[in-house]
Amino acid sequence: MKHVLIDTDAGVDDALAILLALSSRELAIEGIATVAGNIDVEHATANVLTILDAVFPPIRPSVARGAERPLNRPLVTAAHVHGEDGLGNITTLRRPDGSPKYPSSRHGLVSLGAAEFIIDEVRKHGPGLTLITLGPLTNVAEAIRLNPETMRRVGEIIIMGGAFRTYGNTSPVAEFNIFVDPDAAARIVEFDVPKTVVPLDVTEQVILTRTELECRYASNPSPILDFTRDVSSFYMDFHRDNDGFDGCYMHDPTTVAFAIDRSVLMTVPAEVHVECKGEYTAGMTVADLRPERAGRYRTNTEVAVGVDAGRVIDLFFSRLLAC
Ligand code: BDR
Ligand code: CA
Repeated sequence: MKHVLIDTDAGVDDALAILLALSSRELAIEGIATVAGNIDVEHATANVLTILDAVFPPIRPSVARGAERPLNRPLVTAAHVHGEDGLGNITTLRRPDGSPKYPSSRHGLVSLGAAEFIIDEVRKHGPGLTLITLGPLTNVAEAIRLNPETMRRVGEIIIMGGAFRTYGNTSPVAEFNIFVDPDAAARIVEFDVPKTVVPLDVTEQVILTRTELECRYASNPSPILDFTRDVSSFYMDFHRDNDGFDGCYMHDPTTVAFAIDRSVLMTVPAEVHVECKGEYTAGMTVADLRPERAGRYRTNTEVAVGVDAGRVIDLFFSRLLAC
């Protein structure tokens, strides 16, 4: 079993990724750190507690609150994609008696901030720890600044972020997680530990359709699928209205799927750089991925270039249905 720490900005696809992680026995989720991104860090933290209340895992991971803003620039959020609460507006849902369907959690947080919490987990598990980042990389950059020696012991970092041979989703060239804090991302790609970047090139090939989710729920109306429907409805509306399909991209669940089963993604070694200065290109991830140029660059990370989308969706449902 792999020890895992998830760092998340707790939007809708983050929630689906956390459901997948918590329901997969290959992963022991040691902790969850929150960061501002899709939504401010207060909401992101409340959302993680709500997700844990909904899943009710046998061993509840500790939660640490993280950075309120990116390292050097103002926060950009995505409430128009993930809802005002960051979780598809599930906080507005009511039971027939009028009580909130998803009330505020009564669980608390660890006393450490996210960066210190990450360092602590690396200290505990060393090379046995996989860090999965599903949001801007602010907490991880801060952990590296505070204690690079300990952070160098981490087993690996799996990063949802970037866009290489496809358009960005926040600017024409930049993916959201990298766009929000490019300075943090630039530090992580240069940090000398094993890491894999899972960009839009692959995550936009993995689509959960509303029809499939409704069919799965109709044949198995479990609480976890009910929660999945509740959180993803607003996010699916966004994709229907803006991207031309009634469903949603599974960015963050694809990243967790890779931690469970390496064979769902194909990766190549690459020299990745993050543009931090460009007037039009800030947050762009740059790498020469032409196969005929392989071997000519200094490798600083693996980049996912291919995905078995069907297997990611099958994995997602098989794990949730087994809960
Ligand atoms: C990434 O940005 C966020 O909106 C999603 O949760 C995902 O982590 C996709 O660009
Ligand atoms: Ca995310």
